[in-house]
Parts: sequence; structure tokens; C-alpha cells
Amino acid sequence: MLLEPIKWKNNRIVFIDQTELPSRLKYISCGDIGTLCEAIKKLRVRGAPLIGVSVALGYALSAINSKSKTRWGLKKDMEEASRKLKKTRPTAVNLFWALERMENTFLNLDRSYNINKIKKEILKEAINILEEDRSLCRAIGRNGSKLIRNGDVILTHCNAGMLATGGYGTALSVFYEAKRLGKRFKVFADETRPLLQGSRLTMWELMRNGIDATLICDDMAASTIKNKGITKIIVGADRIARNGDTANKIGTYGLSVLAKYHNIPFYIAAPSSTIDLNIKTGEDIPIEERRKEELIFIGSKKIAPSGSKVYNPAFDVTPNRLITAIITESGIYDIKRFRRI
Ligand code: MRU
Repeated sequence: MLLEPIKWKNNRIVFIDQTELPSRLKYISCGDIGTLCEAIKKLRVRGAPLIGVSVALGYALSAINSKSKTRWGLKKDMEEASRKLKKTRPTAVNLFWALERMENTFLNLDRSYNINKIKKEILKEAINILEEDRSLCRAIGRNGSKLIRNGDVILTHCNAGMLATGGYGTALSVFYEAKRLGKRFKVFADETRPLLQGSRLTMWELMRNGIDATLICDDMAASTIKNKGITKIIVGADRIARNGDTANKIGTYGLSVLAKYHNIPFYIAAPSSTIDLNIKTGEDIPIEERRKEELIFIGSKKIAPSGSKVYNPAFDVTPNRLITAIITESGIYDIKRFRRI
């Protein structure tokens, strides 16, 4: 069942409020960039590819809302919009990739275009980014599904599904395509503390799409690998450095170590927009640290003493040597080949 986590409708961005899932499927219709920035910061809209799509649409929204009558005035407004969007979340490179593409589109538009034509072209590029993301995700699914064997038991972490992209997903797109091809396999989903993207979003998505999925909490991963015969681990990515080191949701690095110990393959599934060619190794990837309240509370329930010292990095970096291969829209690359890109 295809989901549209985000769409453009009547000059507004309409997106699923993911903080409300799985209790209710609620859409927010957003007409200003402030609301969008809040939604990205609070993870109403989340997942690296979806963050990229949403800032592209946000850039278009700001252009359409701009009252400037001159190209120069519009440029100033767009620079301000970009600045705000860039401050929302630091790790997912898709955000910076999408904004750079939008900025270049604007700067390269024919000088003869009037303001209305400029706005139309900016919007067209944002919609292109959304549509391309969907087709990249489908291609990731097609490529990754070749790795799935009948009888596989696969562990995934966080949510790298339809909800994290323009549609289809990255890691979960592999499952959807394998199922479509009639392959028989099972999935275990980590709940993914502290914000529970695995239990709230991945389980919801997988069940909705008829995938045989079982929920575990994060600290059950080692014994589940050992006792339930996990055959491979597939996760998404927020930023991949030039050497293949990969930032993804906190807990991913631990899973890669477990995969190595248990001698099972560990795959990353991501579109090329998640690869940051400007960054040499994972050491250079900025890691977002989030509010301590995310650990002190679950919902409104306090689960740790107020004033607790808290360390809350949202992502960790898996070194390239622990990654068997990276599944992209253009193929599956082992780390040695990936290094040559
Ligand atoms: O903090 P989040 O929920 O935005 O983190 C998302 C992840 O870490 C995903 O695994 C990653 O973005 C890949 S999504 C296709």
C-alpha cells in the first residue's frame, strides 16, 4: 500500500505528522517555512531522503510566498529561507544536497524570466526532487531484492521505509520488492530508542504491507541474531562519507559489530543523494545531539530523575570495513568498489 508521506497541494506542503503514528494517520497542511522547520526539528517529517524532499518543497514554498517584485529581492528571501532550513538538522546530507540543487536551479534560471516564471521553475525543480526520490527508492528495492533468499530472517533498525522517503523507502523498499517477487522471508525490527521509529513507524509500515515482521527492543538484537537465525541486516543511511563510512540512527554501529561477530552480511541501502563526496571519512560527519528530555520522558511519563546527566546522540558512524555492501539505485557496491567512486 503506497504511502505519500509528503505532497504538494494547492501551493502548500502536505505531510504526515509522524509523531502521531501509529495511533493516527494525520496530515498537516503547511503554508509557511516556520511550520516546516518546526516539523523537521521535531521529527514530524524525518528520514534523510524525506528531509531532502521537504526542504526542496520548503524552498519552493518560500519562493511562492515571497512578496518581492524583483529577482534580487527574491534572492535575498530565498537565502533567508535556506539559512533557516539548514539549521534544522545537521546529519542527513540530503538536506544540504537538496538545498544546493534548489539554489543552483534558481541562480541558473534565464535572466529574462519574470518573477512568476522564476517561481514556477523553482517549484518544478522541487517536484522533480520528490519524483526522482520515489524512482530512486524503487530502483534501490529492485537492486536490493536480488540479495534476498527464501528463508531469510532480516534485522532492520530505525525506519528506512516509505515514511522516510518520498515513497517506497530504502531498506524497506528491498523488502517490498522481494515480497512482490514472491520471496519468503521474515523481518525483525528494532524498536529504536529513544524516539521509537522502529516500533512506531517500521512495524506500522511493514504490517500494513503484509511483511512478516516481529518487534524487538534494541537490547534484544544480539540474542535475536543468535537465537532466531538472523541471516542479514539491512539499514538505511543519513550520510555516507567518500570512503563508505556511514552515519545512521544511533545503534546502527553496534549492529554492524554484532553482524561481524556472527558472520552475517551487513548492508546499507541509500540513494546517491545520501553520499557526501565532500567528506573523506566518517570522522567528518556532524552528529546531531538532541534534547535530554528525549531520554528522561517517554511521552509525558517521566522515566529518569529530572536533572539526570544525559548523552543523546541521534546517530552513530559505522566504519566501512564493517559494511558488506551499499545498495544504491545504480547497483550494489562492495566497499572496495565504492572507494573507487
Ligand atoms: O532521526 P531520524 O528518524 O530522521 O533518523 C532516520 C534514520 O536514521 C534513517 O535510518 C535514515 O534516515 C535512512 S531513511 C531512508
